[in-house]
Amino acid sequence: MGWKKYYEEHKTTAAEAVSRIENGSHVVLAHCVGEPPALTRAMVENADRYENVTIHHMVRLGPVDYATPGLEKNFRIEPWFSGGNSRAAITEGRGDFAPVFFHETPILIRAGRLRCDVCLVGVSPPDANGFVSTGVSVDYTHQAVHTAKFVVAQVNPRMPRTMGDSFLHVTEIDAFVEAEDDLFEVAPPKITDVECAIGEHCASLVEDGSTLQLGIGAIPDAVMLFLKDKRDLGIHSEMIADGTLELYNSGVINNSKKSENKGRMTVTFLMGTRALYDFVHDNPAVEVRPVDYVNHPVTISRQYKMVCINSAMQVDLMGQVNAEAIGFNQFSGVGGQVDFVRGASMADGGKSVIAMPSVTVKKDGTMISKVTPFLDAGAPVTTSRCDVDYVVTEYGIAEMKGKSLRQRAKNLIQIAHPESRDVLKEEFEKRFKEKL
Ligand code: COA
Repeated sequence: MGWKKYYEEHKTTAAEAVSRIENGSHVVLAHCVGEPPALTRAMVENADRYENVTIHHMVRLGPVDYATPGLEKNFRIEPWFSGGNSRAAITEGRGDFAPVFFHETPILIRAGRLRCDVCLVGVSPPDANGFVSTGVSVDYTHQAVHTAKFVVAQVNPRMPRTMGDSFLHVTEIDAFVEAEDDLFEVAPPKITDVECAIGEHCASLVEDGSTLQLGIGAIPDAVMLFLKDKRDLGIHSEMIADGTLELYNSGVINNSKKSENKGRMTVTFLMGTRALYDFVHDNPAVEVRPVDYVNHPVTISRQYKMVCINSAMQVDLMGQVNAEAIGFNQFSGVGGQVDFVRGASMADGGKSVIAMPSVTVKKDGTMISKVTPFLDAGAPVTTSRCDVDYVVTEYGIAEMKGKSLRQRAKNLIQIAHPESRDVLKEEFEKRFKEKL
């Protein structure tokens, strides 16, 4: 059968498609901007017909309305990254968080250790040869499509057609729902003086010819402000956001010194504004590839002068990094942090940076130091003390690798907020029997 006939015969409505999800199934949603809103909406509208359906995803930008109180018998969530929309459901017992390295998600899906019976995915309309593109999300999404027994795609004309490994033939999908929806957008944040200072310190660690991994948020955007005079930078990153485009368009990022995928930016997903989604459409400058390739520490280690920059909730005086929780409360997830920290440390000339403001200020004005004697009770170690390399705040750079516990503590106290240093010094003196 030709692909056009196959496509026409498998076209249906959202309600009909999701009605075929069986009770007790594990449903994997495409990651982040790749999620198909028409399908998740239809699932919630038909909540009554489901019993004990477990929903998995990494980052989810849409509402987690299938986890609202009252739907406990119908749905349960088990995300691999927590967010504003899933935190309450987890703390209130309507779901569980499952910690996993991002690069391992497709590996575990393939092995059946992350169960995936159904995959719901957003795709572009088919091209002349019957291929659709998952556009902004390849990551674990492609493996979920290949593993699931039942795959439903929302065919959305607003999904860009990206290069790399984003293509699926229509015959790999069981049901198509044509529905136009705006993609989720995340606007570039405002950058404060604190973030500018952090950005400048981080940029001082980036040499010409480096390959970079930068996340989303004010700190990565601030770092990019200070990279304008660098030369021949490359991108091998979990994702890029809009901030990267300016450096690419001005030629600072030209990918010419990358050891692998030279001349191309390599990512596993995209999250930004429509300007980014338009930029990547049909653009061979950006390759979107599976996360077990992009984030695999061995892949990352092959890039000469790989520099990765990530953030944290808190760092203790030994250099242990908690990047994902406030005590027992799961705020986010490990994502790709450890993938890149380990990959960069194995790379020739590689560096990894944990960059964060020295304090966080709560709504009531309380100031909490992010450099702490101990991690909070219940908080996980995301990046271990042997993995951590440089820690940066607005007060400077603290080197960790190769340093004793005493020297690490000294270096970290120097970049802590001045108002927190007395408490940290007291702990230092108790621990190391030395007056600071
Ligand atoms: N104690 C208590 N609360 C803290 C805290 C601390 N030490 N540090 C931060 N917070 C609170 C902030 O006050 C803020 O609270 P609010 O939501 O009530 O305003 C919240 O946590 C988020 O802090 P913020 O500084 O705005 O975080 P961020 O958006 O810069 O994200 C991480 C920081 C660490 C959560 C984020 O980088 C992350 O999830 N990292 C792990 C994954 C990763 O590194 N992926 C890398 C590839 S992209």
